[in-house]
Amino acid sequence: MSSPFSAPILARAYALADRDACLALFDGNVPRFFAPGERGDFERFLGGTALVSPYRVLLRDNRIVACGGFLIETGEEAHLCWGMVDRALQGQGLGARLTEARLAAARATPGLRRVRLDTSQHTQGFYARFGFQVVSVTPDGYGPGLERWDMVLEL
Ligand SMILES: CC(C)(COP(=O)(O)OP(=O)(O)OC[C@H]1O[C@@H](n2cnc3c(N)ncnc32)[C@H](O)[C@@H]1OP(=O)(O)O)[C@@H](O)C(=O)NCCC(=O)NCCS
Repeated sequence: MSSPFSAPILARAYALADRDACLALFDGNVPRFFAPGERGDFERFLGGTALVSPYRVLLRDNRIVACGGFLIETGEEAHLCWGMVDRALQGQGLGARLTEARLAAARATPGLRRVRLDTSQHTQGFYARFGFQVVSVTPDGYGPGLERWDMVLEL
């Protein structure tokens, strides 16, 4: 019998029609990983910036299971933004797949030398596995009890 988790994972560029599915991924990760107050920023990002930045979605069985991308801030620096996996599907390798794809895309971008990100205390250990170094930690940086960890990876 085939496992429901063995279906192939496809990746493609974000499209406006993916907006609600991405917002549902966000909602499932509140309040453990995201503060409710961040939703408006993500909604605005999905309505515009995500269409022109390297923002990707991962699909399994035609359903969006993860999304994430990066913004090029200067010629040399990119910032990972809005990366998330369906809360019910975490711990199955999707986050690693998403992160590897984003870093591969950053490495393939001419002139980029480093990637920055900010994330909470709950996920900084995940990004440390990919070589990200801690730059600063801001208590309550996203909201009460949710720290902001700024990290950087030299490509
Ligand atoms: C962080 C996140 C992307 C990880 O996704 P995931 O699908 O659960 O991760 P994976 O299953 O690919 O895990 C890969 C490895 O990292 C480890 N790992 C996963 N989450 C971790 C964490 N929070 N801290 C440390 N290690 C972690 C896993 O144990 C696994 O280790 P292994 O290869 O030795 O088995 C996911 O928890 C998420 O979407 N969080 C909410 C959104 C968020 O906070 N995004 C970051 C800032 S925008």
